Amino acid sequence: MSRRITVSVLRKMKEEGEKIVCLTAYDSSFARIQEAEGVEVILVGDSLGMVIQGHGSTLPVTIEDMVYHARCVSRVTRTAMVMADMPFMSYRNSDQALLNAARLMQEGGACAVKLEGGAEICDTVSHLSRWGIPVCGHLGLQPQSVNKIGGYRIQGRTESQARQLIEHARMLEDAGADMLVLECIPATLARQITQDVRIPVIGIGAGVDCDGQVLVMHDLLGMNPHPPRFVQNFMIEADSISSAIHAYIHAVKQQTFPGAEQQFD
Ligand code: KIV
Repeated sequence: MSRRITVSVLRKMKEEGEKIVCLTAYDSSFARIQEAEGVEVILVGDSLGMVIQGHGSTLPVTIEDMVYHARCVSRVTRTAMVMADMPFMSYRNSDQALLNAARLMQEGGACAVKLEGGAEICDTVSHLSRWGIPVCGHLGLQPQSVNKIGGYRIQGRTESQARQLIEHARMLEDAGADMLVLECIPATLARQITQDVRIPVIGIGAGVDCDGQVLVMHDLLGMNPHPPRFVQNFMIEADSISSAIHAYIHAVKQQTFPGAEQQFD
């Protein structure tokens, strides 16, 4: 029987240049298909607020929602790493974050948690890390800050923003983060950050040179009527959901996804 994928396996993949495949799932049926096809990290993303619950953002998602969906996914998976998002306002301070991360792991069965933010969450990341919780940071476009940013738009285009992102990535790594998601930033900047840190970097709209890729599953399956530019609809040439997911995995491993049309300068 294969063992559960851990952060040390992902770190080894980075060292060996093997691309890491991550995809969101929120229920047991899709989680089963993803694991069978070979997705290495299943992200129970707070994007469920939009694709499952029908909200216009991730902000209404609660820790109870996340625990419920994480449990649905973890119950049927054996080898994939199940990573769960910490929802908006569930990590306002280190102690609250620790309690909520523990719920995601103990009740939800998650193996790792993901938090949005840079320098401002480093104390929290250290605290979780000290308690043995694998943590993934999330920089670039942070959907929980959509109201502050003013929309879902590309980040890190100015020199000072780019410098800040590089600095925040280093700080997260130093604080004990085990992984990093970079969302919607120029491909050259994502490459620089990926080379700069030792932890695996998973990109979404961040170019082909990250250590791995993640997509919202509903986008990959062509279910989003207004998909972001970085999305590829893998259902177009597939005859089943399994084969679309298989094609996504193949494209990430072969580095044919994302292509030039799915990345930003
Ligand atoms: O919530 C989510 O699905 C995410 C991915 C977009 C990275 O955070």
